[in-house]
Amino acid sequence: MLSVDNNKKKIKVGLLGAGIVGTGVLKALSKHDIIEVKKVGVRDLNKKRNLPKEINGSTLTTNLDDIVNDPEIDIVVEVLGGIEPARELVTKAIKNKKHIVTANKDLIATYGAELFDLAREQNVQIQFEASVCGGIPIINTLKQTLSANTFTKIMGILNGTTNYILTEMLNKNESFEKCLKNAQALGYAESDPTNDISGKDAAYKIAILASIAFNQRIKINEVYTEGIEKITPVDIQLAEELGYRLKLIGLAAKDNDNRIDIRVHPAFIKKTNPLASVFGGNNGVLVRGDLVGELTLIGLGAGELPTASSVAGDINLLVAQISHSGKPHPQFICQHTDYAKIKPISESINCYFLRIKTEDKPGVVGQLGTIFGKNEVSINALTQRGISTDKTASITLLTHSVKEEKVQNAINEIKKTGSVKQIENVIRVLE
Ligand code: HSE
Repeated sequence: MLSVDNNKKKIKVGLLGAGIVGTGVLKALSKHDIIEVKKVGVRDLNKKRNLPKEINGSTLTTNLDDIVNDPEIDIVVEVLGGIEPARELVTKAIKNKKHIVTANKDLIATYGAELFDLAREQNVQIQFEASVCGGIPIINTLKQTLSANTFTKIMGILNGTTNYILTEMLNKNESFEKCLKNAQALGYAESDPTNDISGKDAAYKIAILASIAFNQRIKINEVYTEGIEKITPVDIQLAEELGYRLKLIGLAAKDNDNRIDIRVHPAFIKKTNPLASVFGGNNGVLVRGDLVGELTLIGLGAGELPTASSVAGDINLLVAQISHSGKPHPQFICQHTDYAKIKPISESINCYFLRIKTEDKPGVVGQLGTIFGKNEVSINALTQRGISTDKTASITLLTHSVKEEKVQNAINEIKKTGSVKQIENVIRVLE
């Protein structure tokens, strides 16, 4: 806990937003007597809020410009979420030489480049620990504690909503649609869960982590993104039988040719991977560094107090710097400006799980084998489970490690054969 030295002035904070995270931040800051929350920006003054007693009515304002323009405020904390008005307010605050703490992954992943450039010009810092995986201290761990490492891989379960749904599908053997509805009813999924289930939320997060680990900027629209909408309980159970677990994975790895393989998609991961034991609403991030080896951080990726823990930690980090020298330490200012070269998904190397519905007649398996062989896709395992009432067979295949475009070529050819009724699913397997 930071406490006051009587010779030092209190650091004044302005908070943009007093929703779930903002309320948590106020609770966390009420323990620190060196920090004064001068103003809290809200949309509606009359809304009932459970704020700590130190926050009296006069602290609340609906005039958010008044916070970013207040000459007495040292640190602006943005917990509004979304792009606007957060982007405009943060930009104004930086121009007014205020340090920024934000929990906003959309903002950092989409407009980080312009905000970091501006912050560098103004000699202020942007801290954003809470923007990725709520309470898990991954950003500052990469930036500081592990800064002596050269990173080769980051792999994570970066979205709690989808991890909750996949866990429910595994435990209850129920459909994606049913588990999503239950998650919404219980408040684990938002009423509009599009960004979560489509993988977009995880794409923002892996883009932020990769930019730190590899010291290069990532264009968010270059991150290959696939959600969990097409996953069925059959895929989840077959993964288990084959020694894997199905998870929505965000992955970023550096190639020998210095390109970054960055993507979000459902994947089979080995049950021995520590991420396979991350269940429910939890998040997990596995990092591989040349010095530290592999390490995994697991914890709550959202929620009032876990997210507030990261926001308040960032505020403390800034307070520790500016209350001594008045200036931020250069190590904490983003220095990289070039953009990463991204490896296209078609060039990525994976194993593949395929579920194919075919006619039940002689020669079908041979036909599939011929097409895979012709496209240089080597099969590791193949099973056929009985025959359905509609007289079709469901064939399950696991390939060896191969370039994605070869599998895509094989799939395109398979789709043209009359005996194949449907490619039911194709899921990457990360070895
Ligand atoms: N909606 C996110 C999740 C939390 O479900 O993990 C905020 O990024």
